[in-house]
This record gives sequence, structure tokens and C-alpha cells, in this order.
Amino acid sequence: MIRAVPAQPDGPPSGAEELAARFGTPLYVFDGTRMAAAAAAFCAAWGAGVTVAYSLKSNPLMGIVRRLHRAGTGAEVASGFEYRVARRAGVPPGAIIFNGPHKPDADLRLALGEGATVIADGAEQIRRIVALRAHVAPAARIGIRMSPPGREGLDRFGLTRRHVLAAARMLDRAGLRLSGLHTHLGAYQLGPLPSTGPPIHGVTVEYPVPVERFAAAAANLVRVADEVGGIEWLDLGGGWPAAPGLAPYVAAVREQLGDEPREIILEPGRALIRDSGWLLVRVVERRGRNAVVVDAGITQVPCVLWKRSPVHVVAAHDGPQRPTSLFGPLCLQHDAIAREVPLPPLRVGDLVWIGQTGAYAMAQASPFIHLRPAAILLEGGRGSLLRARETDDEAMGSQTEPLLVGSDGQKVWA
Ligand SMILES: Cc1ncc(COP(=O)(O)O)c(C=O)c1O
Repeated sequence: MIRAVPAQPDGPPSGAEELAARFGTPLYVFDGTRMAAAAAAFCAAWGAGVTVAYSLKSNPLMGIVRRLHRAGTGAEVASGFEYRVARRAGVPPGAIIFNGPHKPDADLRLALGEGATVIADGAEQIRRIVALRAHVAPAARIGIRMSPPGREGLDRFGLTRRHVLAAARMLDRAGLRLSGLHTHLGAYQLGPLPSTGPPIHGVTVEYPVPVERFAAAAANLVRVADEVGGIEWLDLGGGWPAAPGLAPYVAAVREQLGDEPREIILEPGRALIRDSGWLLVRVVERRGRNAVVVDAGITQVPCVLWKRSPVHVVAAHDGPQRPTSLFGPLCLQHDAIAREVPLPPLRVGDLVWIGQTGAYAMAQASPFIHLRPAAILLEGGRGSLLRARETDDEAMGSQTEPLLVGSDGQKVWA
């Protein structure tokens, strides 16, 4: 017998069977209403004078960038590709923050020439911005990323206070102006490299980043901004919780900034999109009573390597709940998207939702062994395709046969 699992207020979308029949599984499903509400609540919690730039790295699908932009956000990008996605999704250059430790000249030229905000991450980038000064549009703004407090000289991201002062002088001499300072605290923490054993870093995720770290970072930016002079905006990066948990963060940061007339920029990713995305998977094999194989694995939802995602069975069969593991279809021992979660009995063909997969799931998915799934947006009772299922042609179309040339210059194999 099949019975429906009662809907929960923040549970997965309804209509799983119909979605699976129409679009196939695995399938990424996004809730447009929920993400727009998350963006609006985030902006409202901060109030006026704050610019919210959605961090595209958490999910760069154009339909999502566009939906969030309609809800009031700009875009934070970390590559020329993300910059072009934001532009194509309708975000104007003036609402784009361009970050990242590697910005080729062509990308810098495009963003500076269109009037975006470009945040230099390293002295080399400052030198290259200076070299490109003839291409800087009057509306463009130049900022510098600073190391978080306590990480000066240790962090590969950002400059120290001393370097910021030197960079400001260098820009000034070139007729350019440093107008803002940035820092990003980062949810991922790197543990020490073990001296023996496998060469892995102990990566842990601390999300949301604790409020005291934001307060210290804000105080540090204000201190350096006062020293540099002429700083009009301060960018505190990402790592924020979603709106219901934001109040202490707003209070702590505002306390550090005082009555500063400076603009505040924030770059949330997870806070806006994580809870609006689900992956719908189907059980394809049973492995005893406590494990099943489903049709998506860790390449579709790499975020499960760092954090547990909620699992919802679409139509539960009668029977006691047991700790159950959901293994993926990849030929890897560690391909498990959930381990020992209490679930009702599962059979081949059953559908299961993997929750909280809106951020850092699809964005990092790769066509390893299996092609990448489709993605759809649900809103107002309608569904629209955000990205079609990847095809063989897309995956193989740009590959060429190896071409060997013999010593006589003739092709020997094509
Ligand atoms: C510079 C920068 N800004 C914003 C973000 C978004 O962070 P989150 O998704 O934790 O809000 C990131 C994430 O790595 C980042 O590197």
C-alpha cells in the first residue's frame, strides 16, 4: 500500500510523480516563490543603504540569477564566465561586484569598461588594473579584498593593511581611485595537512559564519577605511544566515559601522538559494534492507560531502523506519548522498527528495560517469525548464579524435 507523506510547511514541492514523468530523474527543482521571498526578507532585514549582490558561485543558472535580480539583488561574480552570465540574465554592470583571485585582462577590461565594481585580490591585479586605466569607465569602482582579521599574511585571499595602503597610493598615482574595501570570511575551514597518510586537508564547513567574526571583520574594515581615506563602500562578503536568523548579525555589524554614511555591500549565496532547491532521485536498486542505490550521486550534489541534507520519501510504504543509506550510481565507495538516515522501507522505483541542495550542488556538478540532470523552476503553479538534461552531443561534441603527424609531416592517424 502507498500513502502520501503529509506536506510540511517548508517541505519539498508537491507533484513529484508528475515532474519525474515529464522531466525524468534525477531532476533539480527550484522554487521561485521561496527564493524571491528569501531575497526580499534578506534585503528587508538590512534595510536602506545596503546593496545585496547574490553570489553566483552558489548557483549560476541564468533563470535563478534573473529571478533573484527581479527580487532586488545584484550579482557577485568571480570569473569572466560568471560576469557574462549575470549580464545575460539582465543584471546591469553597475549592480555587479567582480571578485576572484584570477581575472584575465580581457575580463578585467570588460568589467571595468562597462562600469562594474572590480575588487582586486592581490598586488598583481592592482598593477594590471593600472595598466588598463585607459579602459576604465567613469562609473567603474575599484576595491581591494582584505585578509580577514587574524589571517593577515596567512590567507591566500586578500591583502594586509600595509599592502592596501600601498595599493591605494599606486592607484592614486595612476589617476584611479580606491573607493571600497572587501573581506569574505568563508564558510570552509582548512585543517592542518596531516604529516602522514592520505594527502587530504580536513575541510569543515562552518555555516553560518559566527556573528562575532563578522563584527570583528566590520571593525577591521572601518579602521583601515579611515586610515586610507575616501572609502565609500565596505563589502562584507558571504556566509550569512537566511533572514529569520539575521537580526543579531545586522545589529552587530551596524554597531561596528556606527552612523557611517558608507554603503554596505553583502554577497549572500546559501542564504538566498540553499533551501529553495531540491534534487529528485529515483531508487534503482535495493541493497539489503538498509541500503538502496539511487540515480544521482555525489557529482550531482557535492554539498553532501560537507553537510547532511534532509531526505524526504515521496510516498512512504508501510513498515518500520530503519537507518538507510542512499548510494549513488558512481563506481566510488564514497558515493553516498545520505548515510544511515531513518527512512521507511524503500523499493525500486520510489522517488526521494534530497533537500537544501539549491546552493553548491548543481553549481559544482560534473558529468563524471553520468551526464548532468535537467533543472526546472516552479512558480505560481507553473514549471519552466531552466536547463535541459545534458546530451551526448554536448558532452562529446567539442572533442576531437587524436591526430598524429609522422616525421614526414603526413597525418598517420586521424
Ligand atoms: C567572495 C565570496 N563572496 C560570497 C560567497 C558566498 O558565500 P555563502 O554562499 O556562504 O553566502 C563566497 C563563497 O565562497 C565567496 O567566496
